[in-house]
Amino acid sequence: MSNAKMIQSDVRSVLTLQEMAEIDHELEHIPYKSGAAIDALKIIQAGRGWVSDECLQAIAKYLEMSAEELEGVATFYNLIYRRPVGEKVILFCDSVSCWISGCDSVKQTISDTLGVDYGETTKDNRYTLLPVPCLGACDRAPVMMVGDDLVTHLDDNKINKLFSADKTGDQS
Ligand code: FES
Repeated sequence: MSNAKMIQSDVRSVLTLQEMAEIDHELEHIPYKSGAAIDALKIIQAGRGWVSDECLQAIAKYLEMSAEELEGVATFYNLIYRRPVGEKVILFCDSVSCWISGCDSVKQTISDTLGVDYGETTKDNRYTLLPVPCLGACDRAPVMMVGDDLVTHLDDNKINKLFSADKTGDQS
């Protein structure tokens, strides 16, 4: 078997036909394969929730990049998850406007309520808490994303209402 065929068969054992078709679609608009790196990572994450080492290596082969190069892209783009995450990711802004507006105290309330710190997932797998740089809503600070929803003007009351059913002791 030629080297190129072996690489393609390796990739096919990890990526689905649908995933490869979606990556191919992105490649139609991009003159060089590695230019589709972020889109390819997002495609895999959209279907699987995160990007495993095995997937990262398969994408790298598919795009004719080294795994180290693609890892660099994934690390730089902080919305690519390299570890399993909960059903919803809480992206908590800890940049300057939110910090001035008291995000530290709000973050502590989230941690106390859900029993997680940054980088951790609740025991019931519902939420993963991650810090992010500015979400572009500084005029409504402090803010966070919960899944696809932007939640603004955070304070302890809002956090308590939002997660009242998720208090650490209520998780089963
Ligand atoms: Fe938090 Fe800009 S600093 S949204």
